[in-house]
Amino acid sequence: MYARPAAATAAAVLGATALLLPGSASGTQESPGKAGEPLVIAHRGASAYAPENTFAAIDLADDMGFAWVENDVQRTKDGELVVVHDDSLARTTDVEQRFPGRAPWKIKDFTAAEIATLDAGSWFGAQWAGARVPTLKQYLNRVENNSQKLLLEIKKPETYPGIEKDTLRVLRETGWLDRHHVTHKLVIQSFSADSVRAVHEQRPDITTGFLGMPAVADLPWYAGFTDQINPTHTSVTADYVAAVHALKGAHGKRLQVSTWTVNDAAAAMRVDGFGVDGIITNNPDVVRDAVD
Ligand code: G3P
Ligand code: CA
Repeated sequence: MYARPAAATAAAVLGATALLLPGSASGTQESPGKAGEPLVIAHRGASAYAPENTFAAIDLADDMGFAWVENDVQRTKDGELVVVHDDSLARTTDVEQRFPGRAPWKIKDFTAAEIATLDAGSWFGAQWAGARVPTLKQYLNRVENNSQKLLLEIKKPETYPGIEKDTLRVLRETGWLDRHHVTHKLVIQSFSADSVRAVHEQRPDITTGFLGMPAVADLPWYAGFTDQINPTHTSVTADYVAAVHALKGAHGKRLQVSTWTVNDAAAAMRVDGFGVDGIITNNPDVVRDAVD
């Protein structure tokens, strides 16, 4: 659990963080290992301080100096890809008030036009009222305008047959599948090995990640189609990281580990000690300070 600061406190956090930024011109951490530190990835944006998976959360991560953001992609009733974590809209929007007769308010049962009318900010705090559920297209354009980079999670792909193809289409239409983006700005991950494999088969040039912690004996199979093994921080160990690092991933480079969701300094220092390549966190400022 994390404490959610009020707007004024969040502003104070940002001010303090700005003073602690390393001396790069942009103030952002671009890639892992530049200072021997893991890459810090803002989970659903800076979601400890702004409503998850909204423009506000990625803009705040940008303001805090974080280049990489993570999101969750699902599909509406009429085929639009949207950025939401839960398969229901109930927790993070006002859908229950707006559409009281439509429990359990699954994304797959709502049209994009209906979802576009929802308030995705008030649940987090009054100052965020009016935040919207972004379509993937809108979200990609925002990340691009912020010069940020994206760890895109295909969420619950078993619910949305063909979502990998849909996701790649939107990425292509928004310019995210050109060589520059694919090489430097995009990773696609999923808890579903089938989904990761489908992405790899359709676009072998894209860097991919598998969310989970497969048995060490199975890692060579995963390395055939993925570049990252991304386990929860409560399970990962130094030995496991070493076992992953002993292999080459789908693009012939060392198989990497990004762990989640690390929201306190002690856990960040612990996994940093294991040698992880990335830390996915709701509190990127806390993690950055811990691993600096
Ligand atoms: O990126 C890792 C993390 O997002 C996976 O879990 O449930 O937060 O999507 P979840
Ligand atoms: Ca996620």
